[in-house]
Amino acid sequence: MAQSIYFTTPIYYVNAEPHIGHLYTTALADTLKRFHRLMGDECRFLTGTDEHGEKIAQSAAQAQVSPQAFVDNISGVFRDTWQQIHIDCDDFIRTTEPRHVRYVQRILQQVHDAGDIYFDEYTGKYCVGCERYLTDSELVDGRCPDHQTVPNEVKEANYFFRMGRFQERLIAHIEAHPDWIRPARYRNEVLSFLRVPLEDLCISRPKSRLTWGIELPFDDAYVTYVWFDALLNYISALVSPPEGRDISERWWPVCHHLIAKDILKTHAVYWPTMLMAANLPLPAHIDVHGYWLSGESKMSKSLGNVVRPLTFDAHFGIENLRYFFFREMKFGTDAGFTYELFIERYNADLANGLGNLLSRTAGIAHRSFGALPPKGTATETSENIADQAAALTAGYRDAFEGRAFHQAIEDMRHLLAATDRYINEMKPWALAKDPERRDDMAQVLYTGLEVVRILAILLAPIMPRKCADILAYLGETRPLDGAVPFAELVAFGQLSSGAPIDKAPQFFPRIDAQKWAQEFAQQTADTADASDTSAQDKSALATAPEVPRVMAPPKPEITIDDFAKVDLRVGMVVSGHEVPGADKLVRLMVDIGEAQPRQVFAGIKSHYPDPAQWVGKRLILVANLKPRQMKFGLSEGMILAGSSVDKQRLVVASFDGELCGGDGVR
Ligand code: MSP
Repeated sequence: MAQSIYFTTPIYYVNAEPHIGHLYTTALADTLKRFHRLMGDECRFLTGTDEHGEKIAQSAAQAQVSPQAFVDNISGVFRDTWQQIHIDCDDFIRTTEPRHVRYVQRILQQVHDAGDIYFDEYTGKYCVGCERYLTDSELVDGRCPDHQTVPNEVKEANYFFRMGRFQERLIAHIEAHPDWIRPARYRNEVLSFLRVPLEDLCISRPKSRLTWGIELPFDDAYVTYVWFDALLNYISALVSPPEGRDISERWWPVCHHLIAKDILKTHAVYWPTMLMAANLPLPAHIDVHGYWLSGESKMSKSLGNVVRPLTFDAHFGIENLRYFFFREMKFGTDAGFTYELFIERYNADLANGLGNLLSRTAGIAHRSFGALPPKGTATETSENIADQAAALTAGYRDAFEGRAFHQAIEDMRHLLAATDRYINEMKPWALAKDPERRDDMAQVLYTGLEVVRILAILLAPIMPRKCADILAYLGETRPLDGAVPFAELVAFGQLSSGAPIDKAPQFFPRIDAQKWAQEFAQQTADTADASDTSAQDKSALATAPEVPRVMAPPKPEITIDDFAKVDLRVGMVVSGHEVPGADKLVRLMVDIGEAQPRQVFAGIKSHYPDPAQWVGKRLILVANLKPRQMKFGLSEGMILAGSSVDKQRLVVASFDGELCGGDGVR
C-alpha cells in the first residue's frame, strides 16, 4: 500500500551561510523523498530558515545592517543554494513570514488560555549558540559542550510553559512507540533525560532586551523565544502552504523529522510537550543523525571549519558528495569529512567502480554490436550475479526505511565487485576477437550492463541527475516515480538488447588525488595563520606560486585633486548571485550605507566561482563611476581587483583589518 510521508529538515539559523553539515540533512530529506517516490509513495518535503533570536540580532548588528535585511539575505542564500543543487523541496518556510507569525501567535494564545503558560522570575545560564538555557549537568567545565562558550547568567521575569505537566505522558508515548525516536541510542538518551523531573520552559524575552522575535499575543512587552517560535514551523507551513488551502490534517500526522543530535532535546522533549498542550498529534518519527566532523570537531560556523556546498559543487560535483555522505556515515553516528577521504572514496567506488564497469562493458558493446548486447546464454556465475542483484533489490526498501544507507551501498559494492571479477575472468575484450564466442561475449557484457542499470536505479535517489544520465544512455527511460512498480523496474534481465548505443561518456572521471594533495598542502600552509578561519574551505583557495613580475609603465601623472574625484567606498556584500547566461560575471549587491544596496556586475566568476562567498565581506567600490546598463541589468559601480603574481588569477582587493562600511577610502 502506498504511504504518505512528510519529511522535514531543521530550519537553519541564518547567522551564517549553508555548509555541508546543513546540506547533509537537506540531501537526506531529498533522497528519502526520491526513494519513496520510486516506491510509489507520496511525499512532502519542507525546509527553511529560522530567523529570530539573539544570535541573529547579534550577527546583523555586527554586519551593520538591519536584522530584516540581514535575514532576507542569508535566507536567500540558503534558498538559492538548495535550488542550484536541485534540492526538490515542496515548501521553504521562513519564520519571519506572516503565515508563520500568525500561527505561532494562535498557538501561544491557545496554550495560554488553557493555563499552560504563566509569568515568573527566573535565573538561568543561557547559551546564545544553542538559544536555550542549559542545566548544570549539561555543562562541561562550566562551558557549553557544543559551542565551547561560557553561558550568560540571566535573571529576568518571563513567561513559562508548564512543560513538566506533560512529562509522564511523554514517557508513556516513547515507551509505547519504540521506534518513535531512531536510532535507539537517542531514544535511550531521551528516556534517561526524562528520569529527573522536567523543569518548565522559559518561552519569552522582554522587548527591552530583545525585539527581534514574535510578539506574545497576550503581552506586547514580550517576544517569544526561539524554540517556541521555530518548532511550530513544521505545522505553520502546512496550515498556510504556497498552494493555499490548509493541508495540515493530511500531512502533519505522517511527519518524519530529520535532525542531527544537537537538537534532539528540543525535538523529542520541548516539541512533543508543546504539541500535547496544543492538543495536536505528535509527529510519526524523529530520525536523528550524528555529526560531520572536520578533524576532531563538529563542522560548524562557530568553529570555522566549514565546506560550502556550492564551492564543493564547482570542483567535484554535489551528487558525488551525496554519494559520499550515504556511503560514509552510519546513520546515527558521527563521520569525518576531508577532501582527501572524499577523493579516495570517489575514485574507488565511482571512477574505478561503477564508472569503470560501465565504460569497459559499454565500450566493447559499442565496438562489437553498435548496440546493447543480446542476453546470450546464462552461466552459473552470471546466474549467481543475477541472484545477488535480486537479493539486493529485495532488501533495498528495508535498508532505506531503516536508514541503513551505508549498508545498502556496501551491498551494492559487493555486487559490483562480483561483476567485475566475472568480467576479469571472462575477458570479453579477448572474446570479441573470436567469432565463435560471440554469445559468451554478449552474455558477459549484458550481465555487466544490466548490473549498471540496476545500480543506477538504486542510486538514483542519492545521485538523481547522474543516474538519470546513465539510465538514458542505457536506453532505460521508464520514469522512477512509482508509475512502474519498483520490483518490475529492477527485475534482472530488462536491458533493451538491440537498442543502439554510443561510445560511453565518462560519467565519473578520475580525480587526480596527487594534484589535489599538493593543492591542499599549499593551501593549508597559506591559511595556517589566516585570521578568517572560513578560509579552511580549502578548495575555494587556489593559490599560485610566486613568479617575477614585469610592471607596465605608469599612466600619466595626476594631482591629488584628480584622485579625490574618484569616490572609493567600503561596501559590504549583502548577497552574491550567479548571472544566468554569463560566463564571467557575478552579480553582487553591495551595501555602502545608502537606502538600497548597489547592484554591481563583476567579471570575477572564473576566479571566484561561488558568488555567495562574498556575503558579509567588505570590498572597495568605485561609487561614482557612471552606472552602466548591461545586458543583465544596471551595474552601479565597480569593485577593485588586481592580478595575482603569476597573472593567472584575479584577486579582489580587501583590507588588512575591519573598516567602517560606507566610509570613503583614501
Ligand atoms: N534553527 C535551529 C533548528 C530549528 S528546527 C525547528 C538550528 N539551526 S542550525 O542552523 O544550527 O542547524 C542545525 C542542524 O543543521 C543540525 O541539526 C543538522 O541538521 C545540520 N547540521 C549542522 N551542522 C552539522 C554537522 N556538522 N553535521 C551534521 N549535521 C549538521 O539548530
